[in-house]
Amino acid sequence: MIWEKLSKEAINNRVFEAVKGNKSYDSDNILGIPGTYLDTEQFYRDADFLSNAPYLTTLINNPNHIGCHTLTDDGSEDLFRGTQKIEIELIRMVSEDILKADEKSIDGYIAPGGTEANIQAMWIYRNYYMQEFGASHDEIAVVFSSDSHYSMHKGANLLNIHALEIDVNFDTRQINRVSLQHQLNRAKEQGIKYFMLIQNMSTTMFGSVDEIAENHAVFEELSLPVKIHLDGAFGGFIYPFSHAENQHNFANPLVNSITLDAHKMLMAPYGTGMFLIRKGWMHYSTTKEAQYVQGLDFTICGSRSGANAIAIWMILQTHGPQGWKQKMKDLIDLADWFCAELDQRGIEYFRNPYMNIVTMKANGLDDEVCKSYRLVADDYTGKPSWWKVVVMPHVKKNSLMAFLKDIS
Ligand SMILES: Cc1ncc(COP(=O)(O)O)c(C=O)c1O
Repeated sequence: MIWEKLSKEAINNRVFEAVKGNKSYDSDNILGIPGTYLDTEQFYRDADFLSNAPYLTTLINNPNHIGCHTLTDDGSEDLFRGTQKIEIELIRMVSEDILKADEKSIDGYIAPGGTEANIQAMWIYRNYYMQEFGASHDEIAVVFSSDSHYSMHKGANLLNIHALEIDVNFDTRQINRVSLQHQLNRAKEQGIKYFMLIQNMSTTMFGSVDEIAENHAVFEELSLPVKIHLDGAFGGFIYPFSHAENQHNFANPLVNSITLDAHKMLMAPYGTGMFLIRKGWMHYSTTKEAQYVQGLDFTICGSRSGANAIAIWMILQTHGPQGWKQKMKDLIDLADWFCAELDQRGIEYFRNPYMNIVTMKANGLDDEVCKSYRLVADDYTGKPSWWKVVVMPHVKKNSLMAFLKDIS
């Protein structure tokens, strides 16, 4: 176990040490690197509080974490090796201690968000099919449920591959098996031969979690090649803690890559998505032309601030595994309480018991009340079918009680 709760002092020391381990634009001769620290007129480097603020210090020093640092211990940009080492440790912490990967078996990087991490996976699998099987764009499809995030459509469009959106059952929100069989058979007839399947470790609107084995079995029955990516952008920092026995991690051989978003449940600054993939796959997204970057580039985004990795690392170390588990349990308990109140009032809803999202059937609810509490609707173009409450740390029992009173 790499992940443990650290004291504030230990966290501060480690981050300051890491920043010191980077080359300094002030004291080292750096003549050819186009990056720099932040503008000194706007961002004070000499403010007293910075000596106690490791994240802000890293932000102001502006280390560039371009590339993928887990691929080699010393091959990527050596100017910022100090903070890059924290990113490498972070990838191990999350993939091994949260997502049950074997030691050092995962590559990855801190992506700008869940959208990029999902598209990075699709990019890698598209290139894999093209390079290993001589597939053309037209022969490749990404398959996902209709409750999936729109980044799947964005990725398919950018990568010029087919997008197969599969219906879900209205009440269970699970992929409809017959629709999946039907769409795959039709795809086969159209000449599509290679597939990637996105499985949600919680959808945005419902908190529903796809059944990996059941959906994969349909591809097996039809003898269709498929690679599986998990979208844990929303659920990645809660579901593994609320449901220890889950199948949505690297202990499951069907799972090849995973997206997480620390800027959702982990409450990190924006820009803290995570892309994780088993070793041996990152090279399918190599940009060989990135010759001026030491260690080349494998990511979509290119340059990115090392402060983002530091922020995630600091949050995880502050809470430790037990602290974070308890924090997530408190949210699940509050969601349980809210659901019991809805049951008493006969209000119908969808809820995965391991998630903190409660999505109520709009039928019978006053839309204006839902809007006034800033609930999220499944559809803003017509009459919504569902309204969602997401029980995050800012959602207090009092506000839920007031909402319940107003809808009763
Ligand atoms: C399930 C899921 N996947 C992907 C994303 C995209 O994440 P981002 O907005 O960080 O790009 C979201 C965002 O809401 C999401 O909920």
